[in-house]
Amino acid sequence: MTDTKKSVHGAWSSRLAFILAATGSAVGLGNIWKFPYITGENGGGAFVIVYLFCVLLIGIPIMIAETMLGRRSQRNPIEAMELLTEEAGADKNWHYLGWLGVIAGLLILSYYSVIAGWASAYIIKAFSGGFFGADAITINGIFNNFIASPAQLIFWHSLFMLATMLIVARGVQNGLEKAVLFLMPGLFVLMILLVAYAMTTGSYNQGLRFLFVPDFGKLTGDAVLTAMGHAFFTLSLGMGAIMVYGSYLPKKISIAKTAFLIAGADTAVALLAGIAIFPIVFANNLHPGSGPGLIFQTLPLAFGNMTGGWLMGILFFVMLVFAALTSSISLIEPAVAWLVENKDLSREQACVWSGLAAWALGLGTVFSFNVWSDVKFFDRSIFQLMDYLTANLMLPIGGFCIAVFAGWIMKRQHSEQELNMPNKAGYQAWKILISYVAPSAVFFVFLHVIGVL
Ligand code: PHE
Repeated sequence: MTDTKKSVHGAWSSRLAFILAATGSAVGLGNIWKFPYITGENGGGAFVIVYLFCVLLIGIPIMIAETMLGRRSQRNPIEAMELLTEEAGADKNWHYLGWLGVIAGLLILSYYSVIAGWASAYIIKAFSGGFFGADAITINGIFNNFIASPAQLIFWHSLFMLATMLIVARGVQNGLEKAVLFLMPGLFVLMILLVAYAMTTGSYNQGLRFLFVPDFGKLTGDAVLTAMGHAFFTLSLGMGAIMVYGSYLPKKISIAKTAFLIAGADTAVALLAGIAIFPIVFANNLHPGSGPGLIFQTLPLAFGNMTGGWLMGILFFVMLVFAALTSSISLIEPAVAWLVENKDLSREQACVWSGLAAWALGLGTVFSFNVWSDVKFFDRSIFQLMDYLTANLMLPIGGFCIAVFAGWIMKRQHSEQELNMPNKAGYQAWKILISYVAPSAVFFVFLHVIGVL
């Protein structure tokens, strides 16, 4: 299975290109915006430990499996599943897994773009010096005024979506992915400087304790589901993004090694973000559980009160937007690849249709922060519902199916050949994790949440 039918943009030139693209997809708003606020909402330490276990025992094995399915089939997720099902002589219905991924990608993109729009707007706010010497109340006011304005949110949401569509339409991901080479180290340095600032707030230890000292008594079933869902979200798993990227991966490259590298970098960025943010939260008597605005209510305080904060603030939000772009292009890619390879649309047309669909859906998220803030479904705002539906349900379900497919349906000789691990023990460990540990973990968490366990 090495022929490349109507491949979207051929094969990656090297292992590095794949690592950059996949890391670019993984590291994004999930690490810097979402991880801190959901950690805050779910009580800290115990939540973080569950999340780390999920990355290690569920995330990494599934990342290996998803990359492998992509590379073996060399197709978009829907066709990949059709082809692999045929190869394994299995039931046709497996291709619905590809569909689940395409839809999950567009649903995530719809709200991802809104939040990335916030980050874009904050570049301007940082530039205009509005954070200078500001206290927590002022910073809070800036944020609340901003999200109260549908027009502003729509403007920035549209701009970000347009950028995503343009990049993907022109097939210039390559250039953007090379930016990861500067972006990641740059983001790392900025995060470390922010951690250094956090050390001066007087609440550094309190922040660390909140993040790393577990109180398992506080851990609810829903928190466990959120931690598990976030492991999928932050590693871009369960929806085909990594499968698409894997389909462009040359045959000789070790999938397992690259998966560890990507997951390691992703986790490091998230933990640094947490270590930088919580001391600022406690030093300013803010509330850790204050929700999706958390980074916008804390980090500007650091930028406004540290030397060199003006420049750092601008750089930080610029890098955050770039990190979001390298993720958003992977969210739209499964849909685009499928439209191009199956519906005979040009790449441009495919981008316009997928982008427009996600943009229109995103309006629901925009309004959920202002004019529709009272509209609730199952006690959740539209934004919360989208997030719950995708990160907590669709991605884990997609990941579960990928694990079952790779562990039970695909022939052992095929997965062994594709992974081509130098030592047998490594393959054996993966096989156990993917066949037993990962699927049963997802299954039990679901049972627990619906109250059966
Ligand atoms: N992993 C990205 C982040 O952490 C989000 C994402 C999810 C991207 C799923 C692609 C697929 O921001």
